Amino acid sequence: MKRAVKENFDASADAYAAYEARTGRFAALAERLAAAMEPRGRVLDAGAGTGAATDALAARADELVALDASPAMLRANPAPARVAGDIDRLPLCDDSVDAVAFTASLFLVPDPAAAVREARRVLRPGGVVGAVAPDGWTADGEGVFAALDRESRSPAPTEAVVDAVDAAFETASGTWTFDTDADDLRAFHAIPAMAARLYPKLPPDERTERAREALAAVDGGLEQHWRWVVGR
Ligand SMILES: C[S@@+](CC[C@H](N)C(=O)[O-])C[C@H]1O[C@@H](n2cnc3c(N)ncnc32)[C@H](O)[C@@H]1O
Repeated sequence: MKRAVKENFDASADAYAAYEARTGRFAALAERLAAAMEPRGRVLDAGAGTGAATDALAARADELVALDASPAMLRANPAPARVAGDIDRLPLCDDSVDAVAFTASLFLVPDPAAAVREARRVLRPGGVVGAVAPDGWTADGEGVFAALDRESRSPAPTEAVVDAVDAAFETASGTWTFDTDADDLRAFHAIPAMAARLYPKLPPDERTERAREALAAVDGGLEQHWRWVVGR
């Protein structure tokens, strides 16, 4: 599973950057998460990708480390300190960072609790952890994918992300909703790693093509929801 996720993101760097240039969604999520976490000192951007979240964290950090499993995503990240690695097996010493931000990444490992234990291990006393995870797209309150008779799945359910942080920290959590539209939904699923949520078994090209066909009829305004959780 982890290998498939890594390969999916290796095939996604360009489409990811195009989606982010169009919507600014991941930068907006990171800005909200960073404001909720108030990170200080040495901050780990865990699943940093192309760097959409890195600025919001770096603005509040003395030092930022960008870590990602996908070489292609990490190559596009402008952070000076970049580390290849897995969020559930961090290549960092115990008590070595002041904050760990899972910026849209904790739902991508099969066992979020293992990654949260790793965050706990590398955090210094008084440290803070935060995560955001997708919570669906709706049109007038109705799930877009239910209407298409299709499920949109991550490797781990969003509840498992919140529960994992909740089990190890004192938490605050909630949902952020963004007004968006059907064209953004299609741009999101033009990213092979996101189309994998709908068609995990197809190769990247076929999967984005199938998603394009499936989403062609969706029209008008939508809402996109993200759960967030911060633990101390
Ligand atoms: C949805 S992207 C988010 C990227 C970035 N944080 C942002 O907000 O734009 C998820 C990122 O998590 C990375 N990722 C997935 N599984 C991972 C793992 N096990 N360890 C480290 N990074 C992982 C992917 O390669 C990808 O870059």
